[in-house]
Amino acid sequence: MQSSAIRAQFIQFFQQKGHQHQIAAPIVNKEDPSLLFVNAGMNPFKDIILGYQPIQTARVVSAQPCLRVSGKHNDLEVVGVDGYHHTLFEMLGNWSFGDYFKEAAIQWAWELLTEVYQLPKERLYVTTFAGDPEDNLPEDKETAAIWRNYLPPTHILPFAKKDNFWEMGTQGPCGPCSEIHIDIRPEATRQSIAAAQLVNQENPQVLEVWNLVFMQYNRKNSGKLVELPHKHIDTGMGLERLAMVLQGKMATYDTDIFTPLIQAIEKISGKAYADSTATAAAMRVIADHLRAVAFAIADGALPAATKVGYVVRRILRRAIRYGYSYLAIEEPFIYQLVAPLVAQMGDAYPNLRVQQTTIEEIIQTEEKAFLKTLAAGLQRLHYLNPQGTLAGKVAFELYDSYGFPLDLTKLIAKEKNLILDEAGFEVALQAQQARSQQDAAVTYGDWHQLQPGVTTRFVGYDQLTATTSIVQWRSLTDKRGKRYQLVLAVTPFYPAGGGQVADKGSIHCGTESIAVLDVQKEHGLLIHTVDRLPDPIEGTLAACVDEPSRKETAANHTATHLLQAALRALLGKQLSQKGSLVTASALRFDFTHVAKLTAAQIEAIEAMVNAKIRANIPCLEQRDLPLETAKARGAQALFGEKYAAEVRVITFDEKFSMELCGGTHVKTTGEIGFFKIIRETAIGSGIRRIEALTARNAAEFVNQELTKLVTLSTLLRQPKDIVKVVERLLHEKKQLEKQCQAYETHIIQQVTQQLSVEVEQVGDAYLLIQTVILPHLDALRQVAFQFKARYKKIFIVLATELSHKAQLLILRSEALAATCNAHLLMQSIAPLIEGKGGGQPFVATAGGSNPAAIPVALQMARQLFLDASLAT
Ligand code: ALA
Repeated sequence: MQSSAIRAQFIQFFQQKGHQHQIAAPIVNKEDPSLLFVNAGMNPFKDIILGYQPIQTARVVSAQPCLRVSGKHNDLEVVGVDGYHHTLFEMLGNWSFGDYFKEAAIQWAWELLTEVYQLPKERLYVTTFAGDPEDNLPEDKETAAIWRNYLPPTHILPFAKKDNFWEMGTQGPCGPCSEIHIDIRPEATRQSIAAAQLVNQENPQVLEVWNLVFMQYNRKNSGKLVELPHKHIDTGMGLERLAMVLQGKMATYDTDIFTPLIQAIEKISGKAYADSTATAAAMRVIADHLRAVAFAIADGALPAATKVGYVVRRILRRAIRYGYSYLAIEEPFIYQLVAPLVAQMGDAYPNLRVQQTTIEEIIQTEEKAFLKTLAAGLQRLHYLNPQGTLAGKVAFELYDSYGFPLDLTKLIAKEKNLILDEAGFEVALQAQQARSQQDAAVTYGDWHQLQPGVTTRFVGYDQLTATTSIVQWRSLTDKRGKRYQLVLAVTPFYPAGGGQVADKGSIHCGTESIAVLDVQKEHGLLIHTVDRLPDPIEGTLAACVDEPSRKETAANHTATHLLQAALRALLGKQLSQKGSLVTASALRFDFTHVAKLTAAQIEAIEAMVNAKIRANIPCLEQRDLPLETAKARGAQALFGEKYAAEVRVITFDEKFSMELCGGTHVKTTGEIGFFKIIRETAIGSGIRRIEALTARNAAEFVNQELTKLVTLSTLLRQPKDIVKVVERLLHEKKQLEKQCQAYETHIIQQVTQQLSVEVEQVGDAYLLIQTVILPHLDALRQVAFQFKARYKKIFIVLATELSHKAQLLILRSEALAATCNAHLLMQSIAPLIEGKGGGQPFVATAGGSNPAAIPVALQMARQLFLDASLAT
């Protein structure tokens, strides 16, 4: 059975049991700072399980891609080593929120596995929770009793907390669980040892397929368990493992999910999967990592230096390293695997198909970049470590500046027979982290509730002032000092979000005016930061948004929409937004595109946006539109963004620009006045950035540029065609430089020739000690080196006067190494010309303010050299 059919059957089975199919959430977790990626099918339901959100649908089924690369659930290091662990895998799951519990969950799991998928009952084993004294939890006898309706007692095995108490992280939802394991060993081996003894023993052929979690607790920060308001069912079955079992394979990598990727890698590398254990492991790692990286990029992540982006980078670089070290691929190739991935997964995950080109470009660019750093880093390593150990601070430098993950450095160190000082690396890493944490340290006081139960209401789309009062407040202390945070009953203040900065403004209390420094949205609350509390705190307040700044911000936000629409119209619909920043003074828009925009393209984009501004198109704002309706109408959504069931849509001419957006906008595009792009740059792998201005700021920018032009024109005596004049000047400059160069070469030759007769022989050595006239120190050096090349044993001291300063140069042959150290000699004579100098044992220079002393200095150099020669 193909994996797509296995997935479809799972969903269908639970739909028939009254479950609603929930589309997979983006794997990049934007809402939970404690969890960078979705690591279990239940993550999107965490708030429902904890009782923070009301239960709207009691039964849900989903297929959810999960990424386990950090934190409590981390499989990164074992990927490729065995045949059934993954960074990214699909978790098939069914949920009951306060509805059915153990009995139905077990019954349906059994029915699906044995009747729909027809797994042999005698090969199934289940585990139950044995209880835990530390958490004061009893043994889960109820679950064992239910299982006895389906399986003999020898197939029902109790296990301790480590295996049978599932927790999302160090805190959060948790509960006892019951896992279903399967024995897929060939019949002959099965006789040797009972499968019951191999359950939970890391045996690749007796392995877990499904986990049924009975969610009952919330583990608090303190470690204490608190009962949840409802009991829930949370289950998870790895699609890859199920496919392996149903397709009769011994490794997930041999299923239809992975074979197209492995075959593509075989073709690119010219090596066979079966060549060696190392080749097979490398191909598995690359196939696995490619999936993780492609899904993460499709959901809005980009390889970068921090957080989510660094995880993506680390995984991708790990894959590149495996290709480089084990498959001898030194060119970008991983991006070529996106096509077979899309062919395999594009139907189930259309986001992958839509963004195929973008994903390919981003991966390829990162591959190119790292392959360059890889070579440079290797060189650095070679240069820095001629012997013995690889210092921790060097490993950190490789990590920090060359992008070498520690495991890569470790591997290279091993190849070079170097011992890596991992502890030293940790020290350097922690020192860096401590530095950044110090800057960010913030402490909050407890919330003081003034109006319990009152919820906050945002009215800022319709009005800029509101009569309001404080619902709750707390203090905030960071390196800038103590401030306060307020939640208001009604607020016109737009909180920072969707790339738009927070509104500025003030709150008024009697005659007192308090500036609002920042507004953020957290857990559904709009939090206003102020530097002091109003007095009295309980009274009525007026909240006023600063109108000019709101208007300028709105103009920039609308311009960003027009810009995105113009970019898509001119450069193609595959182009997608990767970020934006909208402030009162400027706008910034990041988007997928490989090439630098040409001047003509930039001009065309500006022209299109300005035409839409002049057309004075009204803003159509639709609130609470069902997400699916909005998408069906062609509204632009951000990849990887989790939208509510009902969304706000902003349209400027339905055929031109329609976006899901929570920001504030102008009423008609004419308010923007004028749009000007001021910069276009690359900001990373396949991502470009446009920075632009609108209205007054744009006009000011253009005026400033014009002023520069006028100044320039005045300097050049107001020529008719200033460009031609500058071109001519540049051309002339080039010609003059050439002439200068030729003249210098001539002088150097001449001086060299003149000096040839000045070389004197002393014993078996030659001496050239002269004052010359040359235009710069480098010319002095060139002359000296010509003589060094001519004589095997020569001591050269040249001096010249340049802009009333003395310049000295000492150069000696290798053969005089025992007699003369140019650096030390220069240090002795430099004071004579009132200067300082030095260099290396064979060459040294000095500059000084007393050119009159040049003859004395030369004389002294001569004497010191001769004295030293006599002494040896
Ligand atoms: N949440 C459970 C797991 O991830 C089902 O295993």
